[in-house]
Amino acid sequence: MDSNKAIAELKKDAARVANTNDLVLLKSKYLGKKSFIASEMAKLSLLQGDDRAKLGKQLNTLKTSVTDIIQATQDRLDKSEADHQYAPFDISSPGRSLSLRSRVGHLHPSSLVLKESYQIFTELGFAIVDSPEIETDWYNFEALNMPEVHPAREMQDTFYIKDSKQKLLPRTHTSGMQVRFMQANKPPFKILVPGKVFRNENEDATHSWSFNQIEGLVVGEGVSMSDLKGTLLQVVKRQLGDSTEIRFRASYFPYTEPSVEVDAKYQGKWLELGGAGMVHPEVLMRGGIDPNKYSGFAFGWGVERIAAIKYNISDLRQLWRPKIEFLEQF
Ligand code: PHE
Repeated sequence: MDSNKAIAELKKDAARVANTNDLVLLKSKYLGKKSFIASEMAKLSLLQGDDRAKLGKQLNTLKTSVTDIIQATQDRLDKSEADHQYAPFDISSPGRSLSLRSRVGHLHPSSLVLKESYQIFTELGFAIVDSPEIETDWYNFEALNMPEVHPAREMQDTFYIKDSKQKLLPRTHTSGMQVRFMQANKPPFKILVPGKVFRNENEDATHSWSFNQIEGLVVGEGVSMSDLKGTLLQVVKRQLGDSTEIRFRASYFPYTEPSVEVDAKYQGKWLELGGAGMVHPEVLMRGGIDPNKYSGFAFGWGVERIAAIKYNISDLRQLWRPKIEFLEQF
């Protein structure tokens, strides 16, 4: 039996292995039923005594060498596959099989609520306005009557960006856009500002350190609290059903006067949606708007709160966990 010849041939073949399929063929050629080793094994039963022992030993050594070479080939392949995971790929190449493509995902519950809100608010004449996620301390707090020592800042404690001259922070609410927008635009206007906000919160079923808000801001002549209530009632009815009621509870925000908390009655229970109120005259003035001529209302709602009510989600943390069985329900 010529082990050396078999091994030389195997080495040549192994060097050519480029993918898993090649590797399977290689294994079958050298260890399978029709392999050289298998046919030599078959001869063993015809031999006896010393001859049999000698061939048996040779075959065992050969089998170990073959297995080692195949294992080394497998290792080489695994490594190059791992390297490839981060390599650029051709996005124009054809897609995978249909069964895989049919598993393309769907919108997240937060996106569903946002999309629906855009639809409703644009129908009411609101413009959807983009805004920066990283905001200056001035727009986020100072411009909204919250100087550095103001206790209301504590409710919205957040993560500051170290050493930034302008005191930048991941915004704690979308209200930072109020004065920004007023400075750049003349009333009347109706805007909806969606976006992510960030707070230093302990997470629980109804609080998370980052969530989506939608901020509404309406400024014009003669805008009143009843416009605020009428608008919000319309929206809530569209979003949660015609029989939904809303109520205002007296509250406090430094940038609205009066200020309210807005609750929606849904399936017999009052649930909090967020804050609202009439824009504070100082805030209008900072935005370059004359409070004697114009008035306005503002509100800020939690998108995930609406999603929780609408889809009956008891723990908001579920929304940000990569648990496909949960997300597939929506
Ligand atoms: N910014 C407030 C919050 O995040 C909500 C709010 C917006 C209140 C606009 C009044 C006016 O809690």
